[in-house]
Amino acid sequence: MTNTLNATGETPAEIPEYDISRPMRCPLDPAPAMRARQAEGPLVRIRLWDGTIAWLVTGWDEHRAVLSDQRVSVDPFQPGAPKLSPGERAMIDALKKQGKSSVGTSFIMMDDPEHARLRRMVTSAFTIKRVEAIRPPTQKIVDDLIDKMLDGPKPTDLVEAFALPVPSLVISELLGVPYDDHDFFQSNSKTIINRDTPGEERVAARQRLADYLGGLLDEKLTHPSEDLLSMLAERINVGELSREEATEMGVLMLFAGHETTANMITLGTLTLLQHPEQLALLRDSEDPKLVASAVDELLRYLTITHGGLRRVALEDIEIAGQVIRAGEGIIPVNETANRDPSLFPDPDRLDLTRDARRHVAFGYGIHQCLGQPLARMELQVVYPALLRRIPTLTLAADLTEIPFKHDGFVYGAYELPVTW
Ligand code: HEM
Repeated sequence: MTNTLNATGETPAEIPEYDISRPMRCPLDPAPAMRARQAEGPLVRIRLWDGTIAWLVTGWDEHRAVLSDQRVSVDPFQPGAPKLSPGERAMIDALKKQGKSSVGTSFIMMDDPEHARLRRMVTSAFTIKRVEAIRPPTQKIVDDLIDKMLDGPKPTDLVEAFALPVPSLVISELLGVPYDDHDFFQSNSKTIINRDTPGEERVAARQRLADYLGGLLDEKLTHPSEDLLSMLAERINVGELSREEATEMGVLMLFAGHETTANMITLGTLTLLQHPEQLALLRDSEDPKLVASAVDELLRYLTITHGGLRRVALEDIEIAGQVIRAGEGIIPVNETANRDPSLFPDPDRLDLTRDARRHVAFGYGIHQCLGQPLARMELQVVYPALLRRIPTLTLAADLTEIPFKHDGFVYGAYELPVTW
């Protein structure tokens, strides 16, 4: 027997609402409503803020099945593509008004073959070999920031002093963006990532970043150097890429490359401080394999890309005995897949020694995170350095006082007061 979205006899009011709010007492676990849906099954119906009904994918197997199915689209301009907040809907409407479709935005919103054509042009910058080459400069960035923190006042805000500067400096260096402009690109990224930002404002913030990166690309066209923007400029020069496409790719990488990793640094540190025996294990280990597995376990446990990805079925497909009809919205939820007990025994336990490599914190399928080798390397440098160089590091506020990013597409904390 198969079910479909609209043929189950349920009225929309009986379908549970999409709700990702987390209680103060356990801010690091997936939202209780998401866990409740997961307990109902790996693929359940959900009612969004605008009354539309979509499929919520909570199981690990089903998550991967959806994200590797070529009949499933990421394109937010497709009819039926779910919008998880009014701001998200308004942004797509505003882009439509400007005559845009997914082609003309960044490749994270495009299906193959266009997506593959563009992604291929930048993959070489994120190979393990390339990323390993920037491990030593990353270590230097981290050590210098820790020195500065130790010389400064305490308590201090870990986000401002450390978690945000590390990935911003690394991605600026990689792209060839002047770090001195970090206030500008961080504040615009914050506007884009906030679920509550009105659509027009979000479009304007995107445009500001695009104008900025477009200007940098123009400089690199005539004065190239050894960075990713210069690589893109070269593609423009040989006619393989338009200036607009290159600009959008720059925006995507600048934006995706610092906000996510910064939140992992903040929340990962907080999580370790709350699990002293796990913290000691990581701090005292010289084994790079343990450090690597600790980073993957923290990525799994925290799954900062929370609340679900957005997809839409282009044809009828069957997943876990349910028929998803063409035009129905699908929301694969990374954080519940990563707490699926069929793959991760005792999933709510943080265990830095477990093999967590099959987590989906970086998504899955053709859109799986391009920057994951870079993010992993940064986190592998950051946590041991912080814990070893500041062994007395401790939280300088009660957990209930920490301003978590309940409003963000990417979960994190706006501030994390620490002392030592
Ligand atoms: C801990 C840090 C990070 C996390 C948790 C993360 C998570 C993700 C996720 C879940 C996706 C898939 C989105 C989807 O399928 O709809 C994604 C895509 C992407 N990420 Fe990351 N990311 C991180 C760091 C980075 C970094 C450092 C970069 C550097 C440039 C980056 C660049 C990208 C790009 C370009 C895509 C789009 C890939 C595509 O559509 O083919 N990310 N990321």
